[in-house]
Amino acid sequence: MELQVNGVKRTAKATPETSLLSVLRDEFDLTGTKYGCGEGQCGACTVLLDGKAVRSCRTPISSLSGKEIITVEGLEKNGRLHPVQEAYLKVDVFQCGYCASGMVLSTVALLKNNPHPTQEQIIDFMNGNICRCGTYPRILQAIQEAAS
Ligand code: FES
Repeated sequence: MELQVNGVKRTAKATPETSLLSVLRDEFDLTGTKYGCGEGQCGACTVLLDGKAVRSCRTPISSLSGKEIITVEGLEKNGRLHPVQEAYLKVDVFQCGYCASGMVLSTVALLKNNPHPTQEQIIDFMNGNICRCGTYPRILQAIQEAAS
């Protein structure tokens, strides 16, 4: 099955019901996308699908024909990090960093549709992304920084 990942056509050998998360990590070696719960509950596996944040652990590759998949590895352009990544670094958000790629990609999706969200809108949108280190105040700060 052919997939469009970070602007490149890739061929997955896995069966159609295999999760996008497994294919990204095990076949394409794109390990920035993390396995957390495997049940759509934590957001660690978030990627962008045609610009929308989706849980790759719950997304079978059979549903992805013709869609553009962006992982955290695809955010950098011409050697420069995405402004959302820059904002997260500036605020020094992360501790263990396991939730980082999912948080960043969810933030990219949020700001694409709503460039200047209110605090309430940020919290509402990011509610499905879990940080077990509890860095939520800094995540909020970084998103506000990226939106400013
Ligand atoms: Fe996909 Fe937790 S690993 S939501």
